Amino acid sequence: MRVIETIADFRRERAKITGALGLVPTMGYLHEGHLTLVRRARAENDSVAASIFVNPTQFGPQEDFASYPRDMPRDLAMLQKEGVDLVFAPSVPEMYPSGHDTHIEVGSVTQRLEGARRPGHFKGVATVVAKLFNIVQPTRSYFGQKDAQQVVVIKKLVKDLDIPTEVVVVPTVREPDGLAMSSRNTYLNPQERQAALVLWKALSLAKEMFSSGERDAERFRGVMTSLIQKEPLAKIDYVSIAHPESLTELDRAEYGSLVSLAVRIGRTRLIDNIILGP
Ligand code: PAJ
Repeated sequence: MRVIETIADFRRERAKITGALGLVPTMGYLHEGHLTLVRRARAENDSVAASIFVNPTQFGPQEDFASYPRDMPRDLAMLQKEGVDLVFAPSVPEMYPSGHDTHIEVGSVTQRLEGARRPGHFKGVATVVAKLFNIVQPTRSYFGQKDAQQVVVIKKLVKDLDIPTEVVVVPTVREPDGLAMSSRNTYLNPQERQAALVLWKALSLAKEMFSSGERDAERFRGVMTSLIQKEPLAKIDYVSIAHPESLTELDRAEYGSLVSLAVRIGRTRLIDNIILGP
């Protein structure tokens, strides 16, 4: 496994690769969710690249860029074990040298849900991912359903800008009790970790309601909201039943609708989602 810190060196290594290359972009502090993406990339490509870069432009001024967990030696050991060929781990000035002044704005799908609460977040994500696509030139790129809106934004970016990569979406990996794995789970104390289960409980309830024939989206939002409000450590940011591509709020829940939520547990903001289906 080669660990590469500069764009020029990465391009040189990339040029030697023949066959399909899979890319797994990450911000590090890896867990089983990330590793599932890596394994999928490993299975479907001749070579695998992973990137580790905590991207400052996707964090708001009041957000956790400075305190975001980092552990490069541990991450590299995990990637090595999974048979990754190339790791791209640039510094902030390597990705954003002084004078960097071009940004990518994906349209209406970035205005809703996470985009509405985190202004500029998807501009930062789209810009860094477009740069990674240009540097790595992956045949396929792997993203988690955990960040459902991010998947919609990246797919739109790839389609609208004719970027030659196939976006592969990998199902959310959960802890045994249902909590979606996230690097930010590390912020939770034991009491908060228990309280964080309320996200999965609310999504499971939505799934049950849908199986029982409920279709009124406002009923879903209401019942999920009441359940979460019973948890004293939880504060709701949003509960949404939206169209999976346009991300507009629905009146009626349907097969394929995206049920998503953002909830603060103490000072930690968690997101999760499910797609309604059989
Ligand atoms: P990060 O949060 O590190 O996540 C990297 C990738 O892992 C994303 O595609 C994310 O959806 C996926 N992932 C995270 N938790 C997961 C889980 N429990 N199950 C399945 N997949 C999971 O997302 C980012 O980084 C950044 O925004 C990035 C795309 C790297 C751009 O900076």
